[in-house]
Amino acid sequence: MDKLIIEGGQRLAGEVAISGAKNAALPILCAALLSAEPLELANVPDLNDIGTMLKLLEQMGVKVARDGHRVTLDAGGLNNPVAPYEMVKTMRASILVLGPLTARCGEARVSLPGGCAIGARPVDQHIKGLQAMGAEVTVEHGYVHAKVAKLKGARLFTDMVTVTGTENLMMAACLADGVTVIENAAREPEVVDLAQCLTAMGARISGAGTDVIRIEGVAKLHGASHRIMPDRIETGTFLCAAAATGGEIRLTGTSTGYLDSVVDKLMDSGCDISGEKTRTSESILIRAPERLKAVSIRTAPYPAFPTDMQAQFMAINCVAEGSAVMRETIFENRFMHAVELIRLGADIKIDGNTAFVTGVHKLEGATVMATDLRASASLIIAGLVAEGETHVERIYHLDRGYEHIESKLTALGAKIKRAKA
Ligand code: UD1
Repeated sequence: MDKLIIEGGQRLAGEVAISGAKNAALPILCAALLSAEPLELANVPDLNDIGTMLKLLEQMGVKVARDGHRVTLDAGGLNNPVAPYEMVKTMRASILVLGPLTARCGEARVSLPGGCAIGARPVDQHIKGLQAMGAEVTVEHGYVHAKVAKLKGARLFTDMVTVTGTENLMMAACLADGVTVIENAAREPEVVDLAQCLTAMGARISGAGTDVIRIEGVAKLHGASHRIMPDRIETGTFLCAAAATGGEIRLTGTSTGYLDSVVDKLMDSGCDISGEKTRTSESILIRAPERLKAVSIRTAPYPAFPTDMQAQFMAINCVAEGSAVMRETIFENRFMHAVELIRLGADIKIDGNTAFVTGVHKLEGATVMATDLRASASLIIAGLVAEGETHVERIYHLDRGYEHIESKLTALGAKIKRAKA
C-alpha cells in the first residue's frame, strides 16, 4: 500500500489548477442512466471514485468512452439495473444509481452501501422518497430492491438535509408522471450543477439551490453536453495548505463563489483572499500571514461551513495563534484525524461532537494513518508545516478524491513523494 512522505517547512507559492468536482461528477454520471441518448461530459476528474462509478455503469450496459477529462456515456443499451455489493462497498455514492434506474427501468437492485468510517450513513430518506413516488421498495439480503410500473410525482419531505438523497430523488422525479416537490432539499452547489445538466437533457426543474425543488416529469430525456463545476473542496484544501505554510498561491479554474463560508473563515484567520474573473477564466489568489489566528467553526449543510472542510481547518488551527472550538453536526464520527494530529504534537481535546484546539508553535513529523478522504488531506497539511519528515500511511482514500495531489503540491514547492509503505 502506498504512503506519502512529506518534508515539512516549505512555504507554498505558485499556481495550481483545480479539477472538476468529484461530488458533482458522481451524480451527473448517474444522470446518464435517465436517457437512451449520449451524455457528453467535460472536466471529469481523474479519480478512483470516478473509475469505480464508470465500471458500475458499464456492467449495467452503459457504453463509456473516456478521453482525459472528457467522458461520453451512452445508456441506450441499459439492460442490467443492478449494482452489486462488490462495487458498491468501496463507494457509498453508488446509491445514486437507485433513483435513475427505478425511473428509467421501473426496477433497480442496489446493494446497501453499509457503514463507513465517518458514521452510519443510512439511506432511509432515499427509500422513503421513492416509496412516496409509488415505488415498492424492499430491503432484502443487503440489497435495496425497488419496483414500479411508473413513478408518480409527489410532495417529498426529507427528515434531514441530505445531498445524495436530494440528488437521487430529483433524478427519479425527472421521468415521473406529474409534479414532484422536494422540501428541505440540499442547497449544495453540486445539486445545482446536477440540475443544470438534467435541464440540458430536457428535464423541467426549478428551485435547485433553494430548499424547495420542483420537478415536472417528462416522458423522456435526450442527449446533452455538460461541463462539471470546479471542486470546491479541493479548492478549500489548497487554500488551507497555502494558509498553513504562510504561502501565496493562485488557484485557477475555480472561484470564491462556491465557498463563501470557507473564504470568510480564512480571512478571519488573517489571510488575504481575492477572486478574479475575466471573460474566459476565473481564479483565486490567497496570501497568508506568517502565523494564522485560530478560527472556530460549526459544520452544517450549505451555505454553512462544509463538513468536508472540517479536518483541513483542524490542521491549520493546530499551528495557529490562540484556540478554537470546532463543532461537527453532520457526521457522528468525524474527528478521527484528531488523534493522528496529536501524534504530530497538536493540542486537541474532544468532547462528543466538539473539538477544542489550542495552537502550538510547531508540529513534529511522525508516522500517521489516514482514516478517510478529508482526514488524509488534513494530515498532509499538517505534514507540510511539521518539522522533519511526516509519513502519511493508508493514502488510498486520497486517490478516491484528490486528482494528482502530490504533483500539484510539488509544483507549489512542497517536498512530498509517494513510496511503498
Ligand atoms: C454528501 C457528500 C459528502 C459530504 C456530505 C455532507 C457526495 C458524493 N458526498 O454525502 O462528501 O460529506 O454530503 O455534506 O456528494 N442521512 C440519513 N439518512 C439518509 C441520508 C442521510 O440519516 O437517507 C444522514 C447522514 O447519515 C448524515 C446526514 O444525513 O448524518 C447528511 O448526509 P448526506 O448529506 O446524505 O451525505 P451524503 O449525500 O452521503
